[in-house]
Amino acid sequence: MPEMGELNVSNHLLGDPAALAATWDRDGYWFFRDVLDKAVIADIRRTYIDYLIDMGVTDPNDPFHRYNGADYSALPINSNMTRMNEQKVHRLLHEAPTINDFFRCLFGCEPFWVPFTVHRTNPPVQDVSRPRFDFIHDDGSYNEGLDFLICWVPIDEIDADVGGLAVVEGLNKQPSLHRRDGARILPIQAEDVPPGTWRRTDYRPGDVLLMSLATPHSGLSNISRDRFRLSMDTRIMPGASRLPIAGTLVEVGADRVGVADAAGRHDLRVDPQSFVRGHRGDRLSMADIPVRYSPGDAVIVAHADGRVVNMRPQH
Ligand SMILES: [Fe+2]
Repeated sequence: MPEMGELNVSNHLLGDPAALAATWDRDGYWFFRDVLDKAVIADIRRTYIDYLIDMGVTDPNDPFHRYNGADYSALPINSNMTRMNEQKVHRLLHEAPTINDFFRCLFGCEPFWVPFTVHRTNPPVQDVSRPRFDFIHDDGSYNEGLDFLICWVPIDEIDADVGGLAVVEGLNKQPSLHRRDGARILPIQAEDVPPGTWRRTDYRPGDVLLMSLATPHSGLSNISRDRFRLSMDTRIMPGASRLPIAGTLVEVGADRVGVADAAGRHDLRVDPQSFVRGHRGDRLSMADIPVRYSPGDAVIVAHADGRVVNMRPQH
């Protein structure tokens, strides 16, 4: 693993929109220490621990809920569909008044939560000699037209061994480091990241890291002996920005979709420039859209001038 510097902490900038904006511009992220209601984070942690108990990988009587050494091949790792997604655990965060108070103060307007969330309960890796980066990427390459901030929340203490998230500082104004192979987006190569730009910290419940779509980042593997990496990543936007539709598909064709939300039905064109996301972050061909998506699917759609800019599943 390359040398990692400490994240800049931005707590002292809260209440100063110009300084916050300048830091965002310079670094490509904001890291706030101890600002989220820890009772809310503890409630989320409880759902993760109950899941790990039911999966048989930690013992109900262990006060620290360490990994017990059981086979964890059935545990989804870095997955975007877990029991916590089915239980809509993200609502504990998205609907908590104290959490929304923090983001209202940060943005100076109501926050808008984008309904896709990944819950991670990663156990220690078996092979600690493998490179520590899970997947170096920027979210922007996979989410063209969706202008959210990535909101990464540690659900337990996450030190250097447990891993957590590492970000590349100050590259948010530069062209993406992703190379492409035709329509395929290749992972960022570790050797393409400028030396001295990786940042991380020891994360604690109550902390939050917000980053730009253009900021390269990666999960770090968990090389602890017996701890789980518990973290949640979700997406947020200032409510005053141009918002995507979060709704349900009512019609799906190769060149058009109908999507319904609280405001009613929206009929949108799909064209070859629309980025419609498949199962693995790949871009679907227009012909594959009705194969992958069906009426009733919950989706997020960024749109402009009556056409789909980006469409992806909610979760
Ligand atoms: Fe990401």
